[in-house]
Amino acid sequence: MKLLSTCVLACSTLMATAAVAQTAAPPQAQRLYLRSLAATCAHCHGTEGRAVAGEALVRLAGLPKDYLLTQLMAFRTGDRKATIMHQITRGYSEEQLEAVAAYFAAQQ
Ligand code: HEC
Repeated sequence: MKLLSTCVLACSTLMATAAVAQTAAPPQAQRLYLRSLAATCAHCHGTEGRAVAGEALVRLAGLPKDYLLTQLMAFRTGDRKATIMHQITRGYSEEQLEAVAAYFAAQQ
């Protein structure tokens, strides 16, 4: 449990740092920020959102940004029922969800 809370603390510090870095982000820092944001989805949706076809994982890579963002917001508000995504999406700001939707839409 202590390990978990340490991780939560470290992760939120990291994310806060990344959020600050994002404000005046040069392209390289912005790219790294987006990649680390997207990496939090990799456990379930595959590296860069490329889940293997036929697996239980949902592929995100290459889906339209509007579709991804609509789904993320629907999970967040509870309009779309989910087993896990309603909890996950509430951990991100709208700006972060929009950024991650754009990131996955740009993957092939
Ligand atoms: C712990 C596993 C897990 C993680 C981590 C996770 N997801 Fe999901 N995701 C799911 C599951 C399971 C579903 C199916 C809906 C449900 O039951 O929650 C889903 C569904 C989705 C959908 C809908 C896809 C569609 O075809 O309609 C989107 C979009 C999505 N996730 C985006 C994300 C993003 C972005 C992240 C990272 C911020 C993320 N997910 C992290 C498990 C996860």
